[in-house]
Parts: sequence; structure tokens; C-alpha cells
Amino acid sequence: MQLRLIIERFDPQTNDAAYRQTFTVDWERHETVLDVLLKARRQDPALAFRRSCRSGICGSCAMQIGNISRLACQTLVRDVTGDGGELEIKPLPGFRQLKDLVVDLEPFFAALKRVLPWVITGPHHDGLISPEVSARIETPATCILCGVCDAAIPQNGPVTSAALVKNVRLAVDPRDALGSERMKSAGLTGEGLQTFRELLANICPKGIKLPPVVQE
Ligand code: SF4
Ligand code: FES
Repeated sequence: MQLRLIIERFDPQTNDAAYRQTFTVDWERHETVLDVLLKARRQDPALAFRRSCRSGICGSCAMQIGNISRLACQTLVRDVTGDGGELEIKPLPGFRQLKDLVVDLEPFFAALKRVLPWVITGPHHDGLISPEVSARIETPATCILCGVCDAAIPQNGPVTSAALVKNVRLAVDPRDALGSERMKSAGLTGEGLQTFRELLANICPKGIKLPPVVQE
């Protein structure tokens, strides 16, 4: 079977603006979008995109695939095109395009660092947590920092989406000295957080479900 891959290209050294280029590649029903991108790159070795693990672990292959932000290595071509035909791929929206499908992630990581995304152990905690707490933080702790939620969910308040996931994960962790202060800095109402929770559940490639959290 053949697939027409329409890829948004841009090389700051030679292009004033992004343009679309079509590659025709053979594909099989078990193949992912990353597999067909690698085939396109055999036709043009200059085609730029990030990828590393090919297993949904590193978070580096996030891009806009058929108008939805997803991981290329976790998306089967057949799930987005049916029997093939045509597939459009663009860089993650909301990020500056550096080259082809590679975007500037510096602002993403800078926003994350601002919320101190690690456990700040309080002086009166022994560092141990119960199995119940462990279960509560289990899914938000699987965030792979892919950037899909930042691209897909409009920012509501001073904290970006992936940073908000970290804040919620840490706010329900009894080891963390900042605790509920983290939710105050997020500046969201209970309704705003619930909306975010639902949007995230729909788009996060890791299926992260945020636990309930106390907001003061
Ligand atoms: S919460 Fe999900 S979508 Fe957002 S960065 Fe983490 S893994 Fe990616
Ligand atoms: S290549 Fe690592 S998540 Fe896709």
C-alpha cells in the first residue's frame, strides 16, 4: 500500500517560510507514523524530526498528526488514515519551529522548572509513603514530558499544562513541603482544574488521570 505523507518543512537557513512537501512511501498495516517518517527520511536525509526510544517512553516524537498532537511512535498509520491515502504531519502547534518537525522546547522546560517539579521533602517527613498514596500518584508520575498537553490544551492561568500535571502530582504527595501551596500558584478554580483533568484524559498519550486534590 502507498501513503502520501504531506510534511510541513522549514529550514531557517534556506526558507523564509514553512512549506508542504509530499513524500510517497510504502507502508504496512502494523507500521507507525514514525516508521513511515523514517522511510521518508531515506528519500531526503535532511528531513528533521526527533525520536529516540520508539516505545512511548522518551517523549521526543510528539508532533501534529492529522490535526491531532500525538506521539509518532505510538500512532499506527491505519488508525489515522484507515486504508492509507494521505496523511498530513506538522510540528507541535504553539511551539517555535526550528527545522521541519523539530520545535524549540526551551520555553516548555523553563515553564516546568518554574514550578520546582520535584519533591521538596519537608523536615517532619521520613520520606516513606503508603501504597494508597503511591497508587494516587502513579499515573501522573508516568508523564514523559512530551509537550502534547501544552500544545493541545489552551493555557488557563500562569502555569502551563505539563507543569500543572507536576503540580497536582506533587500537591497530593505528603512528602512535599509545598503541598497545597502548589495549587494556589496554579491559580485555577476547582471547575478550571476539572476541565483540565477531562481535556488531559482525552489527549495525553500516557493516559494520565489526575487525582483529586485539595484547593484552598
Ligand atoms: S501530561 Fe501527558 S501529554 Fe502532558 S507532557 Fe506529560 S505525558 Fe505528555
Ligand atoms: S520515540 Fe520516544 S516517545 Fe516516541
